[in-house]
Amino acid sequence: MTQPELLVEPVPVVAEMTPYTGAPVDPLIELKLDSNESMSPVPSLDAAVPEDGSWQPNRYQRTSGLEARLAVIFGIDSDHVTVTAGADDALERAVRSVCDPSRQAVLTTPTFEPLERYVRQAGATMVQVPWWTGDFPVDQVCARATPENSLVAVVSPNNPTGAVASRHALKELSRRLPGALILVDHAYVEYGSPEHDLTRTRGSAPTGRRRGRTCARRHRVRRWTRVACHGVQAVCLWVGLVLLASHMAWVG
Ligand SMILES: Cc1ncc(COP(=O)(O)O)c(C=O)c1O
Repeated sequence: MTQPELLVEPVPVVAEMTPYTGAPVDPLIELKLDSNESMSPVPSLDAAVPEDGSWQPNRYQRTSGLEARLAVIFGIDSDHVTVTAGADDALERAVRSVCDPSRQAVLTTPTFEPLERYVRQAGATMVQVPWWTGDFPVDQVCARATPENSLVAVVSPNNPTGAVASRHALKELSRRLPGALILVDHAYVEYGSPEHDLTRTRGSAPTGRRRGRTCARRHRVRRWTRVACHGVQAVCLWVGLVLLASHMAWVG
């Protein structure tokens, strides 16, 4: 049978991309962080569904309950927190909110590959600064930043190198590039200290439940909620609430 003709062609940047199937194989890279290799059990669905009638799987769910609880844990106002459909969703929203063809974004290389896709799809000029070991290369990144630079992405600990950006480096970036969004991906933050083994990743994070979170100034959070509207599934929110209630370690 012949394939029906596509009525709408994808935009060129999407047409030329291959499907994302995980990080490309690189003989220099030993860490495998692009899937969820965690063996930790996840709570059962039964435990997550409340019996008070508030479970409405046929409704878009509000994320405000989980955001409020997270805000208490982080000691910030709840309008600085947004819950997303996995960390990926948060990254894409953040990139799309500040990148377009007139702007530039700086990423390090190698890093979490979807970030490159989001920047390319947004049409921004992508600058890649090598970062394999040591602290985040602040000087090199700042040297490549132009007035059009609207984003610097810092994955720390970095996937796939495990390199960690210091607090000082992040502060310096913010100070020296006040016009750019400094997007810090802390998906592996609980493994940032030397005693943790990065090859056993994602702790107890049930990544299949597609739930992430971001913390930022409230005006940024408001922009991100404009980029996508109804991303988080009800069951993911309930699992998040259950995990918080039972004080399980949780990575978004
Ligand atoms: C550095 C990094 N950020 C974000 C993600 C995506 O996380 P999530 O499964 O919550 O979308 C991954 C997944 O491997 C990752 O390695």
